[in-house]
Amino acid sequence: MASSVVTVIKEQHREVDKLVKQVEAEKGDVAATLQRIYDMLKPHSDAEEDFVYPAIEKVEPETGEEVHDGTAEHHHFLGLLTELLNQEPGGPGFDGAVAAFAAELRHHVEEEEADLLPALQENMSRSDLEAMGERFVKATTG
Ligand SMILES: [Fe+2]
Ligand SMILES: [Fe+2]
Repeated sequence: MASSVVTVIKEQHREVDKLVKQVEAEKGDVAATLQRIYDMLKPHSDAEEDFVYPAIEKVEPETGEEVHDGTAEHHHFLGLLTELLNQEPGGPGFDGAVAAFAAELRHHVEEEEADLLPALQENMSRSDLEAMGERFVKATTG
């Protein structure tokens, strides 16, 4: 059975959070983990902007402002992540930069799950949610 787009997005959030926790704990190859985070978050954010956020605005036009905030937040945390990728793990300022990125990402994920995704859940049919879920999986896993 196909998964709803809401489930797919939340599962990817949990996967990314596990990796962020590894970076925070300085477990394993931190630079490689940061690269994996980027490789997951970039297509995830692009797919949201491409067809998930527009669908949310369509079913609940009053969420428009939050959808725009969401897009701005993607640019912000991906920018912080790109800076991290260019820094030496353990070097000066690295921990602070990790903390700033993690805080920004968690704030975004919390708001997305609390304020944006429920609009889809409440307004789209099960089959439409599953079709979008499949499209999201394709867009993010190649
Ligand atoms: Fe997301
Ligand atoms: Fe997002």
